Amino acid sequence: MSDEILNQLAGDMNKLLSEPAGSRRVKITDLTPRDGQQCKLATRVTTDDLLPLCASIDNCGFYAVEVWGGATFDVCMRYLNEDPWDRLRRIKSVMPKSKLQMLLRGQHILAYRPYTDKIVYKFVERAVANGINVFRVFEATNDFRNIETATKAVKEFGGEAHVEVNYTVSPVHTLEKWLEYAEQLIEVGADWLSLKDATGILTPFNAYRIIKGIKDMTKGKLPVLLHCHDMGGTSSMCHLMAVLAGVDMIDTVLSPLSFGSAHPATETMVASLAGTPFDTGIDLKVLEEPALITRQIKEKYEKYETGYTGVSAEVFIHKVPGGMISNMVAQLKEAKRMDLMDAALKETPSVEKDLGHPPLLTPTSQIVGVQAVLNVLAGERYKIVTKETSDYVKGKYGRPPGTVSPELIKKIMKDKQPDYSIRSGEMADPADWDKAAKDLGPLAKCDEDLLLGVLFPMQAKEFLTKRESGIQN
Ligand code: CO
Repeated sequence: MSDEILNQLAGDMNKLLSEPAGSRRVKITDLTPRDGQQCKLATRVTTDDLLPLCASIDNCGFYAVEVWGGATFDVCMRYLNEDPWDRLRRIKSVMPKSKLQMLLRGQHILAYRPYTDKIVYKFVERAVANGINVFRVFEATNDFRNIETATKAVKEFGGEAHVEVNYTVSPVHTLEKWLEYAEQLIEVGADWLSLKDATGILTPFNAYRIIKGIKDMTKGKLPVLLHCHDMGGTSSMCHLMAVLAGVDMIDTVLSPLSFGSAHPATETMVASLAGTPFDTGIDLKVLEEPALITRQIKEKYEKYETGYTGVSAEVFIHKVPGGMISNMVAQLKEAKRMDLMDAALKETPSVEKDLGHPPLLTPTSQIVGVQAVLNVLAGERYKIVTKETSDYVKGKYGRPPGTVSPELIKKIMKDKQPDYSIRSGEMADPADWDKAAKDLGPLAKCDEDLLLGVLFPMQAKEFLTKRESGIQN
């Protein structure tokens, strides 16, 4: 395998280096205001502190800027007493030149259980109306039936659908599998394909092999981008190899919040590609101001950085992403059993295998992590099974990529078998919208308020009650 790649690479390099600078321009999407601060500062940066950064980033010439989605919705209400919709509108008002991007968990929207197609449509409609242009849509297990509705809605309301294929390493995730996924995404009507490594375990030659395979197979029908986290310390090498394989766009974060649990630094990648056929066209000098503001933000919110926000290369062994490790630590500390941390990390790949090798990112990372901790705390595997593990096995989080352990199925479903022909959107509660309307009553003034209630009932009620009584931060 390696010889073949090296020969291919040598041929490509000879051809490429004779081409003029910028002839194969690589686009950049900057993630600093969302994924960057989520990975490094626990999403705690307030809108007031984000606005000067966003205004400055607006001048940089990025393809898009990720400002919303992921954990922002939840954290805004839970910890910051902020309306996430208001955050989006305020960011939009200072970023007239840039396409704004959000991360959307397909049928799960931004929460942890599936919603009906009607609610997915409503959410996308309001997100576009409030300023989102680009939707990165994913389903943790790569069950694309769960991104179809969101993708259709995004296109109907005039947005761009960048559909993600979640990377992992497992016996079922072969090169053929990645190519099969890419083919499915052309059929779904995605505008872009995003290969995403949320765990930080992609290695440079695999990045080359997969991106090259996808580019050759899709023959320009689908532009391809790479999103990778740096837990294993390989992310900038992966970006470079993906660029050589013909990737059209890479995702980066301004240097003060880059690398480790986050992504390669924007400035690093711009400088590395400058003057080559892949020149990004972005001026390093223009990046100085937003990088300085990012540094000030990092200093102000430094307490949220932990030992797990840097490179943790043991990720290649246990495949546990940073956010998941900190949750496992919190769970074990609460049980006063930190001595079991090693055992819990060792248990994680076994649970991942039992669940049919789902890529580990929200929400599957939490499901696997919590279950692994419970297995070691109880001293017996699956003595306690969480509701989430049980729902996962039943297919509520999408069809598992591989085979789920028959013993685990038996434990959860007795004599029944899960029916993975049903997509999780069909397992949603059709009464969600009416329940939120009833529960919030006059506290909800608009569809945006109701969507807060649909996705995070408790936090929304608390937040909207405070807003009603005029309680500020
Ligand atoms: Co990410």
